[in-house]
Amino acid sequence: MSEPPGFHMSPDEFRRRGYEVVDWLARYYEEVERYPVLSPVAPGDVRAQLPDSPPEHPEPFDDVMADLERVILPGVTHWQSPNFFAYFPANSSGPSVLGDLLSSGLGVQGMLWATSPACTELETLVLDWVVDLLGLPAGFRSDGGDGGDGAGGGVIQDSASSATLCAVLAARHRAAPDGDLGGLVAYTSTQAHSSVEKDVRIAGLPASALRTVEVDDTFAMRPEALAAAVEADRAAGRRPFFVCATVGTTSSTAIDPVPAIADVCERHGLWLHVDAAMAGSAAVVPELRFVNDGLDRVDSYCFDPHKWLFTNFDCDCFYVADRSALIGALSVLPEYLRNAASEAGAVVDYRDWHVPLGRRFRALKLWLVIRHYGAEGLRHHVRRHVELTRELVGWIEADDRFEVAAPVPLNLVCFRHVGGDDANQRILDACNASGALHLTHTRLDDRLTLRLCVGQTHTERRHVEAAWARIAARA
Ligand SMILES: Cc1ncc(COP(=O)(O)O)c(C=O)c1O
Repeated sequence: MSEPPGFHMSPDEFRRRGYEVVDWLARYYEEVERYPVLSPVAPGDVRAQLPDSPPEHPEPFDDVMADLERVILPGVTHWQSPNFFAYFPANSSGPSVLGDLLSSGLGVQGMLWATSPACTELETLVLDWVVDLLGLPAGFRSDGGDGGDGAGGGVIQDSASSATLCAVLAARHRAAPDGDLGGLVAYTSTQAHSSVEKDVRIAGLPASALRTVEVDDTFAMRPEALAAAVEADRAAGRRPFFVCATVGTTSSTAIDPVPAIADVCERHGLWLHVDAAMAGSAAVVPELRFVNDGLDRVDSYCFDPHKWLFTNFDCDCFYVADRSALIGALSVLPEYLRNAASEAGAVVDYRDWHVPLGRRFRALKLWLVIRHYGAEGLRHHVRRHVELTRELVGWIEADDRFEVAAPVPLNLVCFRHVGGDDANQRILDACNASGALHLTHTRLDDRLTLRLCVGQTHTERRHVEAAWARIAARA
């Protein structure tokens, strides 16, 4: 007897609907500039237009797509609009979307090498490629850069937040292998991303175990203040163990002086992690490799291709100079995961390199991006964003109603109207309400400051020009 017909989507229907969805997305990309960048909906608007309960009976795919157009799209803030200048970008690109589709389609769960060898081996290869692409220290390569059996290596994490958490956990393991966390102290700057505080909390340390070190007038960590804080803690019998430096702070892309911070860390035996979430991608351009200064002296490093390397969220590259503390912190081996390849020590099992057990085949999208653009294409687009940012800085400086509020090393301009906080708030609100662009703000020197980041995949000169014209017209 044959099975009764089920409810699954047949391969034929998948093919037809798949083409339709790709067509829909291609049209979306063609039209995205026409949508208001910041979604205008009010809280609850999206939900109110959808049924409260799930359907009992199968619904036609056409109805789902109609709701996507009618209800979902108006509730989307268009991160893929070239007029998106807010926060830091969340890049996407054709090859990356297709890579993610292939990953979903293959549906691989690559927790162990044995559960899908290609998932692990491609990830190791692509992360080695990224070391070369960005000019990172050879010690981050899985083979140590000499084809051998390197101590370091890279792994794809879902986010910079998770990568930094793993760094804290590895550092904690190295500093307190017996699990006694009493007196452990971590350090970062007052400008560091909030994820550092969250990660220290998740690692089981009290809020008081994180010191936020003061910054200089470029908003970069002051290494002498770090040294003083570490020395004071040691003198008081506490146990400094971890420093997170930031290359490209979220507020203003300030760059902490990693070599001077490494001096302090080496002197006191502290784990040094560098969070270069957005700025790290700049290193694809040789003349911007100042973002790599000092990385040959750090224990761990992360950056997000999902911010500025044309790769869809989620994709963070996390590197360690020596994998043993990371694996020591995160490896738990139950009987049901034992297998010959792991036992032989011949393979990498990435489940030991991050918090979850399961993992998607994320290397595919980064592999497709790198192969599609080549180093040349990636360099071209990142370099172009930085050139456009410099042009914008020139326009702002030439207008005496505005001032640039922080150094601009890369693709983020922090600036403000000289008329004070209310004037800046009015400009921000008017620009965002116009739908023509999306900007966000920060506070620097306790003054409301506008932030404009040029990093969306398809942003061109005309978008930056139009954005500035609109801002200047509201001044
Ligand atoms: C410096 C820095 N670190 C960490 C993060 C968090 O990134 P993710 O969303 O990948 O956790 C950000 C986000 O903007 C950031 O700017």
